[in-house]
Amino acid sequence: MSTRTNLPSWQKLEALANERGAISAQFREDPHRADNFCSAACGIRLDYSKTAINAAVREQLLTLAEDCKLASMMQAMRHGDKINSSEQRAVLHIALRDRQGNFAADYGSGIYSQVQEQLANLARISEAVRNGQWRGHTGKSIRQVVNIGIGGSDLGPRMVCDALRDYNRGGPKAYFASNVDETHLPTILQGLNPEETLFSISSKTFTTQETMCNARLARAWLMAHYQDDSAIAAHCIAVTSNVEAATEFGIDAANLLSFWEWVGGRFSLWSTIGFPIAAALGYERFCELLDGAHDMDQHFFSAEWAENLPILLALAGIWHNNFCGYHTLGVIPYNDALSLLPMYLQQLDMESNGKSIDRDGLAVDYATGPVLWGQNGSNGQHAFFQSLHQGTQVVPLEIVFALHRETNNPQQHRILLANLFAQSNAFMAGQPAAEGEPYTEYPGDKPNIVVALDELTPRRLGALVALYEHKIFVQGVVWNINSFDQWGVQLGKRLANEIGTDFSNPPANLDPGTLALIAWVDHQLTK
Ligand code: F6P
Repeated sequence: MSTRTNLPSWQKLEALANERGAISAQFREDPHRADNFCSAACGIRLDYSKTAINAAVREQLLTLAEDCKLASMMQAMRHGDKINSSEQRAVLHIALRDRQGNFAADYGSGIYSQVQEQLANLARISEAVRNGQWRGHTGKSIRQVVNIGIGGSDLGPRMVCDALRDYNRGGPKAYFASNVDETHLPTILQGLNPEETLFSISSKTFTTQETMCNARLARAWLMAHYQDDSAIAAHCIAVTSNVEAATEFGIDAANLLSFWEWVGGRFSLWSTIGFPIAAALGYERFCELLDGAHDMDQHFFSAEWAENLPILLALAGIWHNNFCGYHTLGVIPYNDALSLLPMYLQQLDMESNGKSIDRDGLAVDYATGPVLWGQNGSNGQHAFFQSLHQGTQVVPLEIVFALHRETNNPQQHRILLANLFAQSNAFMAGQPAAEGEPYTEYPGDKPNIVVALDELTPRRLGALVALYEHKIFVQGVVWNINSFDQWGVQLGKRLANEIGTDFSNPPANLDPGTLALIAWVDHQLTK
């Protein structure tokens, strides 16, 4: 038996889960439930009243977190201990948004000054691009920034630029090319003028196959236009922690933004990887995003656990996954601007906590990270909500929304919100079948957590993302896994390299099914 399932708090939670009643009954038992199971901080209201968590469950969940040594792991993170043990690295994304150095006494003033130096570089380049000082090879100013990167070097900046699109007032438009599919980048480049385009080649390692392929394509596109090697420097910057590889690729040293190995790829949007954000929205807006994340960091490290948003959200997820047996998580943003949030969280959560070997090298005997998926409301209502209401799987939902303060159409915003309220109620309360029509029954009792932002500003978005980062960290601590490595992505990378591009001669050690597939493709492509 593992170090987790034999904890008394774990076992008590199992008993509490077995005897739990319907969620709606909890509201009858506690008339103040709506307030008692809701906390707010940093402009974010976390409402977990529509779950089966009652006072006894919450208490045991908090005890479980204590038993799993959450407090010392939080301190270890803050002090820059190498909590990414398999890679022997500190995990210090909190330092990236600590602009006033509030935590610097813990993680070190050396790190603080390195971060401020890179922020100054980010400000210098992004502002030059925005104010027209940065000129293309023929003297034109930059009208579009094309980010070439994948995973953490793509999803964060892409999600933020999309969520805060209303803040782009006259800045360059940001595009994101990630897929190695040879059509992705060319589709983006169609209609763009190379003389007004700046590529940001973003890769922590500067070895990622997809990014390197697209970077070569970008260079070829520029060369096809200019037929002059010296044009490249005016149209390419690199963002990386592997400065050597970027220089070797031909990036001018003055056009290099760097960051550090202690910034995990999926936690890197706060670093110079955020260049497209600063270029499109402005460095000031980028700083507001950092400040919002720091607001949440301060809350996380100082608030009582029973009021602590990341800890509560994490524990609610543990309750659903480990004790109620609900192993997926649907994230449903009720804002079009937050449409990319589920995709972003998919990497953040599943690459962090999709692990089955614990920190002691033992196989876990409990569920870890859920399968996270989602799409924005109200679109989802007309697609997969049928299954969520009446299917056989229970999928806990996290419904995320932000109020529109300035809108030309407040009535339509209210219609969207009315749909959100309706769904949150319907999932939990359900509805009995009409006489003789069993198919009209909504069983209800489907947990949903509502994460509400009082407005969608850079600061609030920063806080929201940091809320999720810390949630995932807390869950990793409870599951005793290392949330900061990603060994599960290596095998596929190695095999793809071994297979290469000559399909007539694949490695013999592949399985017969894959060999047959390759042979069919080779025949189709060469006949
Ligand atoms: O393959 C997974 C991964 O390593 C992610 O963790 C990372 O965000 C992504 O690839 C991109 O890596 P890089 O920034 O080094 O190109």
